Amino acid sequence: MPKTRNSQAQPGAAAASRGQGSFAVAIMAAGKGTRLKSRYPKVLHHVGGKSLLAHVVAAATRVCPAQDVYAIVGHDAERVKEAMAGSGIGFILQKEQRGTGHAVMVGEDILKQYEHVLVLTGDAPLISPLTIEKLRDFHLQQGAAMTLLSAVLERPYGYGRIIFRGKEREVESIVEEKSLSESQRGLKEINAGFYAFATKPLFENIHDLGTENKHHEYYLTDLAAILAKAGEKVVALQAAEPHEVLGCNTRRELAEVDAELRTKKCLQLMEDGATIYLPQTCVIDCEVTVGPDTVIEPFVHLLGATHIGSECRIRSFSVIINCEIGDGVLIRNGCVMDESRIGARAMLGPYTHLRAGCDIAEGAHMGNFVEGKKLKLGKGSKAQHLSYLGDAEVGESVNVGAGTITCNYDGFGKYPTVIGDGAFIGSDATLVAPVKVGKGAYVGAASCIIEDVPQDALAIGRGRQVNKEGWARQKREARAAGKKS
Ligand code: UD1
Ligand code: CA
Repeated sequence: MPKTRNSQAQPGAAAASRGQGSFAVAIMAAGKGTRLKSRYPKVLHHVGGKSLLAHVVAAATRVCPAQDVYAIVGHDAERVKEAMAGSGIGFILQKEQRGTGHAVMVGEDILKQYEHVLVLTGDAPLISPLTIEKLRDFHLQQGAAMTLLSAVLERPYGYGRIIFRGKEREVESIVEEKSLSESQRGLKEINAGFYAFATKPLFENIHDLGTENKHHEYYLTDLAAILAKAGEKVVALQAAEPHEVLGCNTRRELAEVDAELRTKKCLQLMEDGATIYLPQTCVIDCEVTVGPDTVIEPFVHLLGATHIGSECRIRSFSVIINCEIGDGVLIRNGCVMDESRIGARAMLGPYTHLRAGCDIAEGAHMGNFVEGKKLKLGKGSKAQHLSYLGDAEVGESVNVGAGTITCNYDGFGKYPTVIGDGAFIGSDATLVAPVKVGKGAYVGAASCIIEDVPQDALAIGRGRQVNKEGWARQKREARAAGKKS
């Protein structure tokens, strides 16, 4: 007896009449994706900054609790499971991938504990929770054994086509692209790859599927004809938004769907009050949020879980990945920022590079060609020019002079540099970690600091200057005399 994962799925509940029973969701995600010619499974390819499967799981879990959602995995199953860890969904293993019908067959033990199952294709990431809900509700209202989502597409090539019968538009069969007759080729109503089944007729009939087709696979789509012939009700719900069902089978389709998601994202952000100049040049992932009155200039990339406050300005050619940015922040041109936090009204760039783990406090400034790694830069502190600050904790109101370098690595380990509030680091200082500069201390320009500097002290660590009076003039005169002779 497989473990029951839904209280509604207890044997007693399964006896409830159609129309008000329990639902599972099974997402077919076991295929290899041969047409992508990739080392990685198809459903882990990204559009809009998220894997195909993550999009479908996100939509599914808005309709059904995650504990009733299962991904059917097979090709590179471990990698797919790892990518979905934390989503709370369950997994069903399809060891050999013998077709979409076979994918559902291997889930029988788990799925038949539910009265109904929504079977979703894992490679159509634009599907919305609303459409899944409509499919579920239509299925229940029709009391059908199988309800499929259809769509009328201008370019139906590659999709299964639906053959209807009678005025009631009951479904007679689904014909795959490769099996279409000449007269069927013009049909534009396609099978979207999203289905609702009553599990009883589903599993009573699924073993009648055969493999007499071009790919020698068990096609889930053949169930339409099998169920219809057995006198069961098979109906189709036409999708109100046909683009939602677009599948990603090729790199070209991935690019098209990616573009669509990103356009939609920009429109949403603008709707929410952000200004985006030339949005078609920006690359903005689905999870990104941007506050009102923030201005995003052309050619900006905002990726991953990046959250930007209000009234910021993000200038052109900046790439920002998984960052938290407060209100009123100015990011000048060409900054690259990864996994960092930027406090309100800070100013960065042009060409600041923040590697993972930086925390730039309110009102701090970082300028051109300043690189930070695990850098804590305190409130109002400034590092304006040509510096490397790695594993450094810099207090408040510190001035880090041009060309300052923290030597955080000795070839074996990484060591911290700590600079106290109000300290002044002269230009071209070299701070050899581990080292501390006390509060309010001064470090002379071009110093190599290898020992801690006490609070309020001046540290100078450089060669003393020697002036040789008249040396340059004598040199010039000697050269001039040599040339004459
Ligand atoms: C399928 C439908 C087609 C429909 C289209 C909609 C079949 C036979 N055809 O075609 O009618 O128009 O989707 O997008 O179903 N998968 C498994 N295990 C397998 C094989 C596939 O889990 O053994 C998964 C894939 O990972 C994928 C999904 O099922 O996410 C669909 O498979 P795919 O090969 O893309 O089917 P299509 O040829 O697009
Ligand atoms: Ca497909």
